[in-house]
Amino acid sequence: MRAPFETDLDASSPNRNLAPITACLDDDGALIVGGCRLSDLAERYGTPLYVLDEATLRAACRAYRDGFARHYTGEALVLYASKANSSLALSAVVASEGLGLDAVSAGEMLTGLDGGVDPARMVLHGNNKSREELALALARGVTVIVDNWHDIELLTALAAARPAASVPLMVRLTPGIECHTHEYIRTGHLDSKFGFDPDELEPVLRHLAGQPWASVSGIHAHIGSQIFEIEPHRDLAGVLAEALRLARSLGHVATDLNVGGGLGIRYTAADDPPSIDRWTEVVGRSVEEACRSRDLALPRLLCEPGRSLVATAGVTLYSLGSRKRIPGLRTYLSVDGGMSDNPRPITYQSAYTALLADRPTAAAQETVTLAGKHCESGDVLLHELALPEQGSGDVIVVLSTGAYNASMASNYNRIPRPAAVLVHDGQADLIQRRERPEDLLRYDTLPTRLTAVP
Ligand code: LLP
Repeated sequence: MRAPFETDLDASSPNRNLAPITACLDDDGALIVGGCRLSDLAERYGTPLYVLDEATLRAACRAYRDGFARHYTGEALVLYASKANSSLALSAVVASEGLGLDAVSAGEMLTGLDGGVDPARMVLHGNNKSREELALALARGVTVIVDNWHDIELLTALAAARPAASVPLMVRLTPGIECHTHEYIRTGHLDSKFGFDPDELEPVLRHLAGQPWASVSGIHAHIGSQIFEIEPHRDLAGVLAEALRLARSLGHVATDLNVGGGLGIRYTAADDPPSIDRWTEVVGRSVEEACRSRDLALPRLLCEPGRSLVATAGVTLYSLGSRKRIPGLRTYLSVDGGMSDNPRPITYQSAYTALLADRPTAAAQETVTLAGKHCESGDVLLHELALPEQGSGDVIVVLSTGAYNASMASNYNRIPRPAAVLVHDGQADLIQRRERPEDLLRYDTLPTRLTAVP
């Protein structure tokens, strides 16, 4: 049985749902995800707990793959933007779906590689890559997305130590395309720290054409994140096709065109993002048209979705704790986590949807402010949450937390980060152990002069 809060559940495009595609109610009316009752998971693994539904994640991977198969006549490769949520288990699932991976650090690269992602299907991004990160990419055969001249200088030095080996590269362009999203997550406009300005593209490509070690496989751009508009991606196809034409005219192989990620997801009922199929249709067709009109052989089409692959596969479970009623003003209901496991509300004023794990459909009785437990007044997960009667110890579920929650978690107030489980067909597997307060002391050291007893 489908949970009634999901009126228009769309299994073919998980980014359009509030809940994982396996969400339903059991005979007691309690919420089940991946065949597991959420309150049972909370009891077994403790709270806060990140729960990831494997079926939703796989459905999203397939939606991208199948979408390009339908709407693009050339080859396509989907790279999971692992900044959205990086773990060995997630890397293994996306690799088993035939996806590659986008990494932005040595940590993300190692997580992808150890999770079984083929390095030939991996890219390394970053506007300030370290020599060590670049050396790791070169040693493992990961394609480097060149972002600036500093990258080129470091790569030139590293390549000198590996004569005769060529380095697979793509060049990142700032496409000068505006789109409507939070200013912190917009990257395609010209005032951005990422990528080369359009004016610089030709000098960069000319320079690289003279470097025997450099093998430029293509051009990349990313215009931003949580985007509901389709039009910017049409414009992007033209800009990238033009850049590809230039690269080929200067002698580069330039077989790949990488359009980045950015498709939005549903956080609340008011959000209405396009489907993955529609996104692949617009991107695939636009790239095809842009290339045909320039007489360019069709490139391999790469994209880097993060949020739309994993966000709605995830929910976070919290236990309710204290309550403070301020007559005539509001009632604060506090949970055992907050801004350290989900920094998005305090960082971007992001809205979420939450419900009780065991009575998700019970009629609302009051409106509360769902607060976190951190020493910060702004640590609020949901400002206006209508809830049925509840009490301390009840489990509350925050939906659509699979992306940019675990990966952006901190230890503010020395609060340990939550455990994560992957659920599938009634089975739950622990994929990230819960930190303990003692773990947080692992990297502290006490200068000996401070340990001496006076
Ligand atoms: N490719 C590049 C080069 C990117 O910079 C990003 C995201 C992606 C792909 C994936 O974008 P997605 O498909 O997930 O929209 N922390 C923010 C989001 C930052 C996104 C950064 N770049 C948030 O929580 O909303």
